[in-house]
Amino acid sequence: MGARNTGRGPRLRRAVAAAGLGLLLAVAGCGQNSAGGGGESAGGSGDSGGGVKVGVILPETDSSARWEGFDKPMLDKALRAEGMDPDIQNAQGDEQKFSTLADGMISSGVKVMIIASISSDGGTAVAQKAKAQGIPVIDYDRLNLGGVSDYYVSFDNEKVGALQGEGLVQGIGDKPGAQVIEIEGAPTDNNATLFYNGQQTVLKPKYESGALKLVQSQKIDKWDNQVGGTTFEQILTGNGGKVDGVVAANDGLAGAIVTVLAKYGLNGKVVVTGQDATADGLAAILRGDQYMTVFKPIEQEAEAAAKLAGALAKGDTAAADGVATQTVEDPKGNRDVKSVLLEPQLITKDSVKKVTDAGYVKASEICNAETQAACGQLGIK
Ligand code: BGC
Repeated sequence: MGARNTGRGPRLRRAVAAAGLGLLLAVAGCGQNSAGGGGESAGGSGDSGGGVKVGVILPETDSSARWEGFDKPMLDKALRAEGMDPDIQNAQGDEQKFSTLADGMISSGVKVMIIASISSDGGTAVAQKAKAQGIPVIDYDRLNLGGVSDYYVSFDNEKVGALQGEGLVQGIGDKPGAQVIEIEGAPTDNNATLFYNGQQTVLKPKYESGALKLVQSQKIDKWDNQVGGTTFEQILTGNGGKVDGVVAANDGLAGAIVTVLAKYGLNGKVVVTGQDATADGLAAILRGDQYMTVFKPIEQEAEAAAKLAGALAKGDTAAADGVATQTVEDPKGNRDVKSVLLEPQLITKDSVKKVTDAGYVKASEICNAETQAACGQLGIK
């Protein structure tokens, strides 16, 4: 319960936001060739460039390939393009480290902070400290419930969940009473709640009508992929080895689940969802082991955060408000947070090419001996 975020608010305001967002997407579209997963920053790492300092803290490495593979290089590039000097660190799932990194950045004189927190409480504590020093804070990807940050940049996360629910239903097709296991994200990550809420808009009516049968739904602390796999295995064996569909909240969890399915000779026979359009997830889709993923073009997220940071570093809140034209509701803090909410895309085997065409993942990262035939058929090269 609790995290009813975005549902109504942002959708109503989307029309108003369209103009600003269009601009943003147009800008995002331009730089896509050079984006790549592991892009080097223009100035090279450690290059202080003389710009205004901005501190960025990412939450984990192991929960998803996105943080180090996409967010870090893309934020670095986008912040430098705004003339800023980024210090980008990863808290490795450790709240204490998150807090210590923030203290270091605050005392080193950063002018803006961008944080993707492990938990709302940890993120809020950092934002309070920064704001006490007059440093504006942007919540990046994950909203800190009950927080004090000035802006929020993310995707429409309920929509991400709805796409996962739709993908699952589409993949299962007509199989009355098909059995579903749900492996969800971290209970401390508001996004995991939003993904779940979005999934349930599609799945709950099916569970209620008996079209689908829910075996069990389980949240996974810190999105730990390995724990996700062992948890799934316990549920599967507890259900006599029967499952038709698995809601895996992201590609990392999906990968661990596919490993377990393979152990029981079930991979390729069970519909598995995902998220993040990682190289591993896309390759699993091409092999037929995973049914879908959700593509969130992180370059757009990084560029929106960088534009906001650039404006805030100059104290230009009017310009920042011109970027963050949407709002999300923080039900815990009982406030609306000015936001940028980008559009996620459903990807199945037929549309994997959209992700390679966008330059987000290279064909060479997903086309291998096992997937070569699919790559050929789909024109992925
Ligand atoms: C992000 C997902 C990611 C997950 C685990 C969520 O907050 O939105 O993209 O897969 O965290 O890192």
